[in-house]
Amino acid sequence: MPSSQPLGAGRARVSFEAIGTLADLADLTLPFTLRAVCHLGVADHLGETPRSYEELAKATGTHPPSLLRAMRALTTKGIFAEPEPGYFTLTPVSGLLRTDHPMSMRWAYRLRPDVEAWSAMDHSVRTGDVAFDHVYGEDYWSYLSHHPDLYTQFRESQRALTRIELQALLRVYDWSSFTTLTDLGGNDGAFLCGLLSRFPRLSGTLMDFPGAIASAAGAVAAAGFADRVSLVSGDLLEAPIPPGADAYTCKRVLIGFSDAEIEAFLRAVLAAMRPDSKLLILEPSNTSDEMTTAMDLHMLVLGKGRVRQPAEFAALIGASGLHCRQVVDARLLNLFEVVPAAAA
Ligand SMILES: C[S@@+](CC[C@H](N)C(=O)[O-])C[C@H]1O[C@@H](n2cnc3c(N)ncnc32)[C@H](O)[C@@H]1O
Repeated sequence: MPSSQPLGAGRARVSFEAIGTLADLADLTLPFTLRAVCHLGVADHLGETPRSYEELAKATGTHPPSLLRAMRALTTKGIFAEPEPGYFTLTPVSGLLRTDHPMSMRWAYRLRPDVEAWSAMDHSVRTGDVAFDHVYGEDYWSYLSHHPDLYTQFRESQRALTRIELQALLRVYDWSSFTTLTDLGGNDGAFLCGLLSRFPRLSGTLMDFPGAIASAAGAVAAAGFADRVSLVSGDLLEAPIPPGADAYTCKRVLIGFSDAEIEAFLRAVLAAMRPDSKLLILEPSNTSDEMTTAMDLHMLVLGKGRVRQPAEFAALIGASGLHCRQVVDARLLNLFEVVPAAAA
C-alpha cells in the first residue's frame, strides 16, 4: 500500500510488536530517570546490601514515594535490583554510576542545555542550522563559558570519557618515544595528565579556550603536574599553535569543526611542527557504528561539525600539507598518525 494512502480503520492490521518497538525507541522516561538518579547521586548510597527506599531518600534528600517510583522504573532495565519490595541494591550497571568508581559514568551524560537543543532537532534537519544556536542565540562554547556550573559538568563528562578512552589509547599506540607533547583542545588536562602519569620523561603543553585553561590550572596542580605542564589559552582557529613539540594531540576536537575549519587548523599545526613531529588526531570515526552515528547527530544539533569516515579525514589531512601514516583502531576512537607531507 502506498504510504500516502490512509489505512482503512477496518482493514488495519495492528502489530503490537511494532507499536512496542516505536514506544521503546521514542521513550523519554528512562533517559531522564537515569539522569535524575545520576544528578541526585543515588548510586553513591547503595551497595550490595539492600537498602530501603526511605533510607535512600533520607540519604539523598529526596521525596521517598517519588524516589521509589524512579528506582522501580530503572530496576525494570537492570540498572538497580530490588531483592525485596522497597529495598534496592546496585547492579554491575549502576556500580558505574558511583562517583568513586574508577571508571565512573555518573557525570558522563549530556547537559540540560543539550537536552533543550535536542528538542529543536527538527530545526536542524529542516534547515541544516545548529539547533543549539537557534535555541540559545549563541554557540555552545560561549554559552558554557558564562555558565560555570554547566561548564563544571561538561568537564566531568569529558573526564569520564577520557578515563575510558585512555586505556585503549595506551594499549594500541607506543607513546614512549615522546618527551614533549602538546594537547590541543585538551580541556582541563585530564588526557595530558593521564599520559604524564605513565611517562615520567614527558612534559606537556595544554591549549584550549581561556575558561578551560583557567580550570586546568587547578586540575593539573591537583594531579601534581604543575611543573611539567605549560598552559596556553587561545582559540585554536585563530591563535598560533605552540611550536616544536615531539607530538601534538587533539582528541574529539575536530568533530566540532567544519571542513574549512579543520583545514585551517591543520595548516596551523603543520606550521608549528618540526619535520619529525607527529600529530595524533583522535576521533570517533566509523559512522556504521551505532554510537558514532549518535555522536554525529549530537554534532548536528550542537555545533558545526560531524563524524567523518577515515577516508574523509585522509582527504582533509592531505589537502593541508600533511600525510596520514596509519589509522589505528582504539575502540571508541580512531587514532590518525599524521606527519608533515614533506617528511613522509
Ligand atoms: C569535546 S571537548 C574534548 C576535550 C578533550 N580533548 C577530551 O577529549 O576530553 C572539545 C574541546 O575542544 C575545545 N575547543 C573547541 N573549539 C576550540 C577552539 N576553537 N579553540 C580552543 N579550544 C577549542 C573545547 O573547549 C573543549 O575543551
